[in-house]
Amino acid sequence: MRQIIKIAVLVFCWISTILQSHCKTEENVPFIAWSNQKYLQSLPSEPAGHIMNEEVLKSNVIQTILQNRDNDIVCVFRFNQLSIDDISKYTNSYSPDSNGGRLVNMKQSIDESISHLTLPMVEPVPLRDIEEIAGHTLLTYDKSNQWINSLTKDQVDVIVVPLQLSSDRGASLSEADDVIEKVLNEVTQLGLKYTVILTAGEPSKIAPPTDNEVVLQVGRHLLQSTSDNQNFSVAKFDEGGCKLLLFVEKISVSVGQTISELPYADDWNTTASECNNASSRSLVMSKKFDESTGNVTYFEMTLNFSQVKGGSMWNFNDSTAVIEWTDNKTLNFKIDASDTPVRYSYHCGRLTFTEGSGTGQITLTLSHFQVQPYYLNEFKFAQANECVGFVTPGIWMGLVTTLILVLILYFGVSMLASLTVMDQFDDPKGQTITVNVNE
Ligand SMILES: *[C@@H]1O[C@H](CO)[C@@H](O)[C@H](O)[C@H]1NC(C)=O
Ligand SMILES: *[C@@H]1O[C@H](CO)[C@@H](O)[C@H](O)[C@H]1NC(C)=O
Ligand SMILES: *[C@@H]1O[C@H](CO)[C@@H](O)[C@H](O)[C@H]1NC(C)=O
Ligand SMILES: *[C@@H]1O[C@H](CO)[C@@H](O)[C@H](O)[C@H]1NC(C)=O
Ligand SMILES: *[C@@H]1O[C@H](CO)[C@@H](O)[C@H](O)[C@H]1NC(C)=O
Ligand SMILES: *[C@@H]1O[C@H](CO)[C@@H](O)[C@H](O)[C@H]1NC(C)=O
Ligand SMILES: *[C@@H]1O[C@H](CO)[C@@H](O)[C@H](O)[C@H]1NC(C)=O
Repeated sequence: MRQIIKIAVLVFCWISTILQSHCKTEENVPFIAWSNQKYLQSLPSEPAGHIMNEEVLKSNVIQTILQNRDNDIVCVFRFNQLSIDDISKYTNSYSPDSNGGRLVNMKQSIDESISHLTLPMVEPVPLRDIEEIAGHTLLTYDKSNQWINSLTKDQVDVIVVPLQLSSDRGASLSEADDVIEKVLNEVTQLGLKYTVILTAGEPSKIAPPTDNEVVLQVGRHLLQSTSDNQNFSVAKFDEGGCKLLLFVEKISVSVGQTISELPYADDWNTTASECNNASSRSLVMSKKFDESTGNVTYFEMTLNFSQVKGGSMWNFNDSTAVIEWTDNKTLNFKIDASDTPVRYSYHCGRLTFTEGSGTGQITLTLSHFQVQPYYLNEFKFAQANECVGFVTPGIWMGLVTTLILVLILYFGVSMLASLTVMDQFDDPKGQTITVNVNE
């Protein structure tokens, strides 16, 4: 079964790569769908960094959704402009305990849904194509709930809810969230089987306000430049045009019960790094600290990177941290990341590594960690492959389903095991069995 899935995924990737190379556009919008039925789980997702082609999206995803007869209604929430970064930024989606930020109702609705599908980057699909796939005219949302009277019984109604992203992105997302809640409340009150799609007509192009916008402090830090993030530790390496860059908001080390947080520093010694080998590189960052700032007097971290999949992706290789405490400690760890497209950076809200146990246990925690070992321009990170995406994929869903299946299997097997076979059979040639019944 695994083999079949693997092959199917490979074939799909291959086909989508070919399609993508034929019509290359950088225009991409997010496509998030959720439903109170479970069919969305079986739809294909895209590997990190891939933009799903319009044709593939239409034939594999939109058609499946619009022609699923189990749906009573498909609600299409369509922003004029939106990018996945807007969602990440205003929903704190990379924190495992995010409440949803500006899209709190939407997150709740997704969490309560039976299945969902997140495609961070797809080519925008025009409304008339959606109409064509649906095969009938689309309904348009209006505040007075007139649309409810237009619902039909014999077809999958598609209602389009236009949403606006203005220059105050946070506020427009909050407004949109209220509309999403309102519509979904109506839909659930009518007891309809629904699928919701959130997408946009084009990527967001409106410049964000230049003054210091009060972003929810929970938002993802887009670590684009080194100057406006004084509270990040920065390690840079540049040798013969080969550049490595690492940002980390907080490095904390604990040994036994004692926790020590390293002070911010942007003067890490990176001279021991190796950068020129295209296929494998390593970033070595080290620094001495004095005892007034904590129990760590020296910290050295080596991160090794390798290109994989014929150079189209990179991943972490084994890494080490050498920590001078009251005695010297070495921690070997492996960053367990999915493959990152070679031109992308990798970002993770929180990474924790532990070795040993009891009083000798060493724990290293890196918060808001971002690194890019290949194709780095001007010491600015490219788009990031995130360690957790917006609303982590249906891992829990999968676990729950598996558990139920295992329970059913267990029940079945235990029923079989408790079957008892008669110990006497009727022998046609011999005496018939007589059962004495006492009256
Ligand atoms: C850095 O952190 C300190 C205290 O933790 C805070 O007062 C300061 O505003 C921060 N600076 C920046 C640029 O975020
Ligand atoms: C930086 O590290 C290298 C090797 O680890 C060492 O030889 C060099 O002296 C260090 N430089 C500074 C300024 O500490
Ligand atoms: C690059 O690193 C790989 C793996 O460590 C090694 O096999 C290869 O020989 C290296 N190439 C160069 C040019 O150093
Ligand atoms: C260093 O660790 C000891 C306990 O091992 C603790 O008492 C002390 O306060 C720590 N020093 C600093 C600066 O944190
Ligand atoms: C780690 O590097 C070694 C050699 O340097 C290589 O053989 C191995 O495949 C790499 N592992 C990963 C996960 O890239
Ligand atoms: C990481 O890379 C460095 C330099 O290439 C190498 O010396 C070291 O052995 C590597 N570490 C691991 C754990 O592979
Ligand atoms: C830790 O290692 C450094 C050099 O790597 C050495 O100078 C120092 O004495 C060592 N400390 C202990 C307690 O072994």
